[in-house]
Amino acid sequence: MLAAEPTFGIMRKKSEHPATVKRGNASALTMRGLDNREKRVLRILLGSQNGGLGVNQILELAGWSDQAHAVGAAMGLVEKGFANLTEVENVHVSLGTEGVHAAKDGLIEQRILLWLAKQDRSNRTIASISEEFGRSESGPGIGLLRGMGANIVNGNLELHDLDEAMKIAGERMDFIKEIEGLSVNSSGLDEKLLEHFSKRKGLIVSEKSIKRTWSASERALTLDLNEVIEIDQIGEVTPDLLQGESWKEREFKPFDIHAPAPIPLGGRPHPLQSLIDRIRAVFLEMGFSEIAGDFVQTAGWNMDALFIPQDHPARTMQDTFYLSSPESIKIDEERLMQWAGTHQDGRGTTSRGWGGVFDAKESERALLRTHTTVNTVKHIANNPAVPSRVFGVGRVFRQETIDRTHLPEFHQIEGIIHEEQASLPMLITTLRTFYSKMGYSDVRVRPAYFPYTEPSIEVEVLWKGAWLELGGAGIFRPEVTQPLGTEWPVCAWGMGLERLAMLILGLDDIRELYQPDLAILSKMPIL
Ligand code: PHE
Repeated sequence: MLAAEPTFGIMRKKSEHPATVKRGNASALTMRGLDNREKRVLRILLGSQNGGLGVNQILELAGWSDQAHAVGAAMGLVEKGFANLTEVENVHVSLGTEGVHAAKDGLIEQRILLWLAKQDRSNRTIASISEEFGRSESGPGIGLLRGMGANIVNGNLELHDLDEAMKIAGERMDFIKEIEGLSVNSSGLDEKLLEHFSKRKGLIVSEKSIKRTWSASERALTLDLNEVIEIDQIGEVTPDLLQGESWKEREFKPFDIHAPAPIPLGGRPHPLQSLIDRIRAVFLEMGFSEIAGDFVQTAGWNMDALFIPQDHPARTMQDTFYLSSPESIKIDEERLMQWAGTHQDGRGTTSRGWGGVFDAKESERALLRTHTTVNTVKHIANNPAVPSRVFGVGRVFRQETIDRTHLPEFHQIEGIIHEEQASLPMLITTLRTFYSKMGYSDVRVRPAYFPYTEPSIEVEVLWKGAWLELGGAGIFRPEVTQPLGTEWPVCAWGMGLERLAMLILGLDDIRELYQPDLAILSKMPIL
């Protein structure tokens, strides 16, 4: 025996065919691939004199009650070449609802014939049959009689051989009576009548079944029965078992690690939430702190503080959701004066401004934030002299028409590095590091334009051979930072979350992220 060889778990491969090993060892080797149930069934099959055995016979001989055990073991033997499976298809016929009625009251054609026999020739009209049997029965009944040689002449039903018709109907009735209350194997029934009734509605029901029998294969016949012995196997590895020594002498029940198993459908965070959590973890790990802000903001903080000109097209109703309640939110007078100066002529900064007249009313208009850059700008305004590295993942709102790649509500991954040594290379390295931690190591930047950064860049990652734009970044302009009270440069970025989610989750329609379809959601990868 090769007991020293590890047999834990995994099924042996087919390569250990007895033909390839020395005789003596052959059955010992192959036997190890059989579990106890298979061995029991194999002994039963080998002991059966008269051909194949069905499930019930195997169950009885094995002393089991669960069909799955018998079928499982027998099929296992087939798979391993020790048993042959024979399948015989059977059709069983029983009466349908109409058939049950017919068995009791007679078939309609028979009843009409019996009635006709008692009538005068002159009373054998379609109308009188209809009156006697009712419309729903007389129609099909007359049809059946025509099939038996009856003709309709001037509204009369003419049958030249009533006896012959009665004989046919009688045979049909015999058939119905024969299967009444039974389920009869179709092979014992009259083929013509069977065909006839299977064309009529509701009279008979036929059910197909497959009878499986198993018998020992040629290969099994060469086995030494002394080897086909059930062994007390260890099916479950428990702490108790491992603490003792007895397992060393015993055999472990093999199991098939490739066998299909149901996938447990437990609860899980929404994929987008998982992604947000992962992004958080990455930035926290990189030494950033998290900030957040309100959805409702003023145009002043959302745009003016960022030196977005007041006539910028993105500020119009087509792009921004302005609120009607509150319509406006008060902003500190001093702050408004500062923005007015910067926008009109660059007063208090090294800039010359945009020119034109600054409208403080416009600054106080309430809106749903169009980007999370409003959070980072406010953070600098509140902490102008404190170096900081902060990030936030937040929801933003824009008047977009919904399509495959656009939603009116989406998320941005925003962040800044605000410190004396902040620089463009530091910004690019930070973003590269972030994306490579997210699994995208091919990152490139391209020149871009934003009213509040100089230089401005666009960040792209390589995905399936194409460069995909994921967001914007840059160094805040002096027009932004000087009024906030800082002299340090600020690396700033705002990346799309949903775009990244589509890449990571392999979606080609952004809307899939927001559909409450559990079937789709449960199949999305776990992040
Ligand atoms: N706010 C920009 C956007 O919404 C992204 C950005 C943030 C660009 C910070 C530069 C600096 O697309």
